[in-house]
Amino acid sequence: MAQAPVPKAELHLHIEGTLEPGLAFALAARNGVELPYASEEELRRAYSFTDLQSFLDLYYALLAGLRTEDDFAEVADAYLARAAEQGVRHAEIFFDPQAHTSRGVPIGTVIEGLGRALAKSEETHGVSTRLIMCFLRDESAESALATFEAARPYLDRITAVGLDSAEVGHPPSKFTEVFALAREAGLKCVAHAGEEGPPAYVWEALDLLGVDRVDHGVRCMEDRELVDRLVADQVPLTVCPLSNLQLKVVDDLADHPLPAMLDAGLLVSLHSDDPAYFGGYAHDNFTAVRDALGLDEETLRTLARNSFRSAFLDEETRAAYLREVDSH
Ligand code: HPA
Ligand code: ZN
Repeated sequence: MAQAPVPKAELHLHIEGTLEPGLAFALAARNGVELPYASEEELRRAYSFTDLQSFLDLYYALLAGLRTEDDFAEVADAYLARAAEQGVRHAEIFFDPQAHTSRGVPIGTVIEGLGRALAKSEETHGVSTRLIMCFLRDESAESALATFEAARPYLDRITAVGLDSAEVGHPPSKFTEVFALAREAGLKCVAHAGEEGPPAYVWEALDLLGVDRVDHGVRCMEDRELVDRLVADQVPLTVCPLSNLQLKVVDDLADHPLPAMLDAGLLVSLHSDDPAYFGGYAHDNFTAVRDALGLDEETLRTLARNSFRSAFLDEETRAAYLREVDSH
């Protein structure tokens, strides 16, 4: 029998990016919504991206079928079941409230629905969970602030805020105010930076937003001083190899900067971003880099350890998960 996948934490996962075509059509039918694709096959043929924006256009379009608390709970539960099969023991899950409130779905529906699936995940799937609320950076700073205020009644269920969507032209500096409010409220902070955007955006995420982790961050490798800073502070970078390949951040997985990032001493871990779109869930990213980059078992184990080191966990739970990796 094949060996069970190494225990790992999923720290870069957009719940909207786990919507598989079958479930997208089922939810749309249930809610009487028409998707702009005639069939699952036609939809799957559209899964060929030239950059981040070409992916985001499809990602937002497919959300039309998601309307009720039950819908959000079902998407999250389906994801957590798949994650468990991939060795995920802990998942910190992004959601994009503005992608739903802009369609008339109340933020409470989104958070209650996701929260219901997450609350029983430890029992049903053996996966502990956290929720991270992301602001869409191609929307205004005022919209992010309004979203944060609308989420205030639910902050006990939210561990961190994040920043995602179209990066170039929307630097972290645009969101300084809302991140300061989130930190005042006791939330952790993360931000996508240095995926398509320049190293300057990673500096801004660190110095202006005060982030605890950087999502992607692969373009830090273009700035020696930035690498030194990230290494010195051991800032976690959540790297998503299959995403980078599908969105043309790298042309070939064999050219991925992951080995150089590890050699530089960066705190890197592997994640799946939008697995329904990019051809693989958490462990699939491990096997893809193993095959393309020739990483050995000990390096893969280091990457799994790094995922728990980078997670928003109490120290006792972290230590228990790290022991699981060691004894794997
Ligand atoms: N990058 C930025 N925003 C996103 C992504 C991503 O890979 N996936 C979903 N929103
Ligand atoms: Zn992402």
